[in-house]
Amino acid sequence: MKIEHVAGPAPALNAPDWVRHGALKAWVAEVAALTRPERIHWCDGSQAEYDRLCDDLVAAGTMQRLNPAKRPDSYIAFSDPSDVARVEDRTYICSVHRHDAGPTNNWMAPAEMKERLAGLFDGCMRGRTLYVVPFSMGPVGSPLSHIGVEITDSAYVAISMRVMTRMGRAAVEALGAEGEFVPCLHSVGMPLAAGQADVPWPCNKEQKYIVHFPEENAIWSFGSGYGGNALLGKKCFALRIASSMGREQGWLAEHMLILGVESPAGEKSYVAAAFPSACGKTNFAMLIPPAAFDGWKVTTIGDDIAWIKPGPDGRLYAINPEYGFFGVAPGTSDQSNPNAMATMTHNCVFTNVALTPDGDVWWEGMTDTPPAKLTDWQGQEWTPDCGRKAAHPNARFTAPASQCPSLDPAWEDTQGVPISAFIFGGRRSTTMPLVVESFSWTDGVYLAATMGSETTAAANHKVGEVRRDPFAMLPFCGYHIGDYFDHWLAMGHRLPGPPRIFCVNWFRKDEDGKFLWPGYGENMRVLKWIIERCKGTAGAIESPLGWMPSEDMIEWKGLAPTVRSNFRKAMQLSREDWIRELLLHEELFVKLYDRLPKEFVLKRELLLATLWRAPEQWNLPG
Ligand code: GTP
Ligand code: SPV
Ligand code: MN
Repeated sequence: MKIEHVAGPAPALNAPDWVRHGALKAWVAEVAALTRPERIHWCDGSQAEYDRLCDDLVAAGTMQRLNPAKRPDSYIAFSDPSDVARVEDRTYICSVHRHDAGPTNNWMAPAEMKERLAGLFDGCMRGRTLYVVPFSMGPVGSPLSHIGVEITDSAYVAISMRVMTRMGRAAVEALGAEGEFVPCLHSVGMPLAAGQADVPWPCNKEQKYIVHFPEENAIWSFGSGYGGNALLGKKCFALRIASSMGREQGWLAEHMLILGVESPAGEKSYVAAAFPSACGKTNFAMLIPPAAFDGWKVTTIGDDIAWIKPGPDGRLYAINPEYGFFGVAPGTSDQSNPNAMATMTHNCVFTNVALTPDGDVWWEGMTDTPPAKLTDWQGQEWTPDCGRKAAHPNARFTAPASQCPSLDPAWEDTQGVPISAFIFGGRRSTTMPLVVESFSWTDGVYLAATMGSETTAAANHKVGEVRRDPFAMLPFCGYHIGDYFDHWLAMGHRLPGPPRIFCVNWFRKDEDGKFLWPGYGENMRVLKWIIERCKGTAGAIESPLGWMPSEDMIEWKGLAPTVRSNFRKAMQLSREDWIRELLLHEELFVKLYDRLPKEFVLKRELLLATLWRAPEQWNLPG
């Protein structure tokens, strides 16, 4: 993007000889002239560079080195208490026409936004280093991969990008002299005046902007150093910009984990599953089947993002464009997710977890009994009775995918893996059954589009409120969500045999507010039914919502009988709840009216007609 601005004193460009891309060098020079950093550093992605930047971050007080005997080569960072999650209300899709961003995205005219941003970025890197961070989303050189270059004034972002993406010289070399890249400009938005001391977690408390220009595939992010706000390869590029690229080019960029299932007979299937933020993707992707599932194996391709393209054989193939995990820490334990725990034993950066007196980490849910004393995520002394949380609810670990014991051997396969089923799951204490299979592709797209979920700490909104989160993409779709539904319908209709579509809900609760379903590894029982449905070997009952397993179609070996009786409750459809749910569908549809697929209106009508009948006439598992 052209930056119209008066050049200020800029430091030497310092481009290494392996940078042959004229437009890239020109862009970096332009940004430097605008932001006026003290110096420019081109990241080569080497271990030595990573170690040196980590040392710098320790010296600056941003990170502390953890006890090498407990957690080798690992660090803890505490963010500013105002900079702890994605800022959805500060996130914009700046298409030329407001209507192309749609009613679920914030919008501003590109020219107006650029003017505002140019003002904010003017001199915003004073006193800091400008890091040029080239990266590939997907294996370097794969036909499914895309390259981005992030300019940032945060060393924490630079080292995190090395864990989360294939970062460095190889990405620049793949670009050659004129390859295409997505420019991603980031600043923490806190310039330093001459002699001004830095703070451990620089950010801008007043102004934050996470901005996407889908028509020119460019990203500008200002004011935050945290997660998806700042690691621009992830949500900004791999979801918002990539979803818009995918719509134009005939593929899908989705907020999905990808996992493999191997049956005792050695048959391998892959599924992709979309759950909203902090709703169980990492856990499901790393699932360990219960002991009763002898011979079944689950392997991990990715835990957050899937890029999915039709292959020559008419199936859909998916890659994980990321290289690491940026996973929710609280609730992660040797019981809930042993694979995640094993992934983060070394080479890991923890942000906003608590620090133990012996230099290790702790968070709520890691152990049943909390340590007697901790330093909490705000650097305060913490004891179990102090009434505060030790870790922030959106505290995260950043770890290389290669360290995950359940990693699938095909995880870097440049062709991707074939997808047999899509699974959608919200966090709903009522209404949604444990599992249902849609009657058709169109019905499945309807169910995914109308998905509701209780909000979590992953973004800066009130936690625990049900909102519509279509395809778990509400905060991540880079264009009009109605057009996105159309794109999904069209993608499926082009395929000779599209994947089956399922909905799950691990989070249904009883009258006392207790989860009805044990979840975690036990989700294998549901996954097995799903896989067998795809193979055509499992039965189902035709409920008003879709195909459902009856109790005898689920493997119960090794589970207490009480769980079996809860199953019936977890599968219940309540007429009252569903009439209310259909009103919420209608509310979404009215908002999207002129770009809503007309099939959805008919489908809703049909659902209402079925649910209107007395529940005695419904077919339900029991
Ligand atoms: P993002 O990284 O934000 O996109 O989220 P994610 O979907 O990967 O979330 P993650 O797997 O980290 O989920 C975190 C939360 O979900 C924690 O509070 C877990 O305890 C909870 N959780 C995960 N799986 C289950 C489950 O099967 N049952 C229940 N009850 N909770 C679960
Ligand atoms: C999410 O919020 O869905 C995440 C974490 O995966 S972040 O990268 O911060 O967006
Ligand atoms: Mn996510």
